Amino acid sequence: MHKYLLPLFLVLLSSQTMAQDNKTVASLAGQNGCLVCHQTAIKLVGPSFQSVAEKYQNQVDAQKLLVSKVRNGGAGAWGKIPMPAHPQVTEENTSLIIAWILKGAPAN
Ligand code: HEC
Repeated sequence: MHKYLLPLFLVLLSSQTMAQDNKTVASLAGQNGCLVCHQTAIKLVGPSFQSVAEKYQNQVDAQKLLVSKVRNGGAGAWGKIPMPAHPQVTEENTSLIIAWILKGAPAN
């Protein structure tokens, strides 16, 4: 292979892998019931994932804070309606979903 083609190929390959990751995490959010109350771009019962990403874009501890908020539930950040606790969603999956939300919840 031409010496300039290999890095290009690797870049394409890794963006392909990331696209699949987003899709996988999006379906995790569905399987774990998050999409019953949340959508990417519009507010349902809870805030849209894009507005969450916007709100926390400059907050360094957002990942940790939001993982614990989802697992323990709570109200007050967006209004009076509380989010129920989600102890059944593993910490690992919660963490993947939050990282994806903080990226703006891309579909793929
Ligand atoms: C029964 C409805 C409901 C479900 C199911 C739900 N949420 Fe929420 N979520 C809410 C509400 C309501 C809020 C706003 C809470 C507040 O004002 O503090 C919220 C807030 C959030 C926030 C922002 C929290 C903050 O403090 O800014 C994130 C992130 C979030 N939800 C992620 C998730 C994820 C991930 C799941 C799935 C594991 C999920 N939610 C499932 C209703 C829900």
